[in-house]
Amino acid sequence: MENFSCPFIAYGDNALDYLAQIKGKKAFIVTDKNIVKLGLLKPVTDKLNATNIKWEIFDEVEAEPSLDTIKKGGIAVGKYQPDWVIGIGGGSCMDAAKAIILLLARPELEPEALSVLEDFNFRDKGKKLMAIPTTSGTGSEASWAIVLSDTKDNRKLGLGTPEVMPDVAILDPVMVMGMPPQVTADTGMDVICQAIEAYISSWGTSITAGPALIATRLALQYLPRAYKDGKDVDARKEMMNAAMMGGLSGCNSMFGLAHGTGHALGGIFHMPHGRTVGLFLPYTLEYIINGSEEALVKIAEIARYCGLNAGSDKECAKALIARIRTLAKEIKQPLSVKECGIDKAQWEKEMEGLVNRALNEVMTMTAPRVPGTEDLEKLFRYAYDGKSIDF
Ligand SMILES: [Fe+2]
Repeated sequence: MENFSCPFIAYGDNALDYLAQIKGKKAFIVTDKNIVKLGLLKPVTDKLNATNIKWEIFDEVEAEPSLDTIKKGGIAVGKYQPDWVIGIGGGSCMDAAKAIILLLARPELEPEALSVLEDFNFRDKGKKLMAIPTTSGTGSEASWAIVLSDTKDNRKLGLGTPEVMPDVAILDPVMVMGMPPQVTADTGMDVICQAIEAYISSWGTSITAGPALIATRLALQYLPRAYKDGKDVDARKEMMNAAMMGGLSGCNSMFGLAHGTGHALGGIFHMPHGRTVGLFLPYTLEYIINGSEEALVKIAEIARYCGLNAGSDKECAKALIARIRTLAKEIKQPLSVKECGIDKAQWEKEMEGLVNRALNEVMTMTAPRVPGTEDLEKLFRYAYDGKSIDF
């Protein structure tokens, strides 16, 4: 049996009005200090007040939330016993909210055990999860994945379980209008990468392909507009929709090699997720079309759907890769590792770690062409210099 899980999605103008319809007495808001400072909680708490729902804020989430933070949030939520846990923010806040509601159901567990291996049944206990994104990137609002970081071992943990797909996702453009251009660019590259990787994933199906394809076209069209003019409401709305569909299609299939290699780069050199996966996307697509006829056809399908009809499948696939590079340039994203300011000697010194991290990612395994150690080393070196993949 295959299945496709999806939240109830309220979107577009005044989507936050949906809060007037929810039932419950108490909500536990999981967010970060920056969101509080930007005043982004107020439109949500005003609505909760109007509905007579009490709320408490946990604002200690950091980028790539640590196990310690989640533990702290788990203790706080256990004391408060809310009906709703609401993650408000970027992927980190929404992922933290997912981990925290799982701990509400199973307080005896350590955060590293929040995976498919356990049952949580939090809905049977009357608990519900809501996600309200303030960036357009990971699509965590429509995904059951949870990424945490183990700060002791300096590693990222890919956790989560289908149970923790949010009950409700609210995509209201007021929450993303103030996103700065750099964050718009970094997170937007993740949307493109997730959508394309979900479409070509070896675990993809015809059901995951639909949202993936549309998300790619929307992101290619609207990301440059959202970057150039943050007040462009249509661009902001379509990027929110695209991000959600990228997350949705990706968690119901799987991401691929750009995520596998990007996580390795981000894990060692601590760079924003979207920037790292976006950087590797053109290189990994080149690598894939050089070795998988099936994926080549799929990448050409995406290209044609996005209006890049350049002739043969190979020409179309190459046109899509070229478009990704032009777009990255337009929104001032690095095209090579060198452009990230990483020293070559340092890159070489970390090579073994980069390769091992990439090899250990499930996402590397679900790519349509799976590299071994030798190919990965080569790919990392080509990406450092900004050289197109010819193997
Ligand atoms: Fe991603």
